[in-house]
Amino acid sequence: MAVVAFTSASGSPGVTTTALGLALTWPRPVLLVEADPTGGSGLLAGYFRGTREYVGGLIELALTSSSIHDGLAEVSQRIEGSEVSYVAGTRSHTQAPALRDLWQPLYEELADLESTGQDVIVDAGRLGLVGSPEPLLANADLTLIVTRTTLPAISAVRSWADSIQRGTFDWQQSGVLVVGEGEPYSAREVSQALNSPVVATLPDDPESAAVFSRGAHLPKRFETGPLARGLQAAIAAIHSTVSRRRSDLLEGARP
Ligand SMILES: Nc1ncnc2c1ncn2[C@@H]1O[C@H](COP(=O)(O)OP(=O)(O)O)[C@@H](O)[C@H]1O
Ligand SMILES: [Mg+2]
Repeated sequence: MAVVAFTSASGSPGVTTTALGLALTWPRPVLLVEADPTGGSGLLAGYFRGTREYVGGLIELALTSSSIHDGLAEVSQRIEGSEVSYVAGTRSHTQAPALRDLWQPLYEELADLESTGQDVIVDAGRLGLVGSPEPLLANADLTLIVTRTTLPAISAVRSWADSIQRGTFDWQQSGVLVVGEGEPYSAREVSQALNSPVVATLPDDPESAAVFSRGAHLPKRFETGPLARGLQAAIAAIHSTVSRRRSDLLEGARP
């Protein structure tokens, strides 16, 4: 399908949990890139609870690889029993600015993965941080701002949504992914308040989310639970949003 990036405007709405949950549910091989400039791998410390060693990631790719193509294969690690690979992010926020010149060539490499049948999910962390992977956010086929539906959350997204609409950022296609639909506001209300499409929604399901965010034990009926079903539906919605835009682009290019 494509390169899909996830980011947030404020707080901790669930970007990392959503990105990993989607990756582990994805119907095709997928590469998860931990591009959050905050540093400290959410995957290694969270999902793997420190049981997996850091064996290289974006910083090695930026500083020691002579070719991004070969380097990317070297720093990509497989999550056993899945078709998910990941590239670990920086271990500290102080390393993030050193990735500045990596993002654009990395994007080009990531976009090329599609021809090998691999999609890409980017965890871009919060918007506006020093070291933010702006070229990934801008070039992704779809960039989704993850948000809860509380008023403070929506008001934080709003200024970013306004800037996107004014064309301040040159993103290919953007939208919102709601976590905790109906708690308290619905996707429709969020979409109206932001004047921006809500591409997908996920339910508030703390027990299932904890599996992805901190490697908690699987709750009963995890695989058919609210979050699992929400992730399936989100993938279908993301897929159709990306496909629709591609066919619109093709249509527009026809003489
Ligand atoms: N769909 C969800 N339902 C309930 N809790 C969630 C959901 N998604 C994430 N969370 C919880 O929210 C907290 C923050 O998640 P995290 O993914 O680390 O956020 P971010 O990457 O935006 O900082 C974690 O405790 C996680 O378990
Ligand atoms: Mg995170």
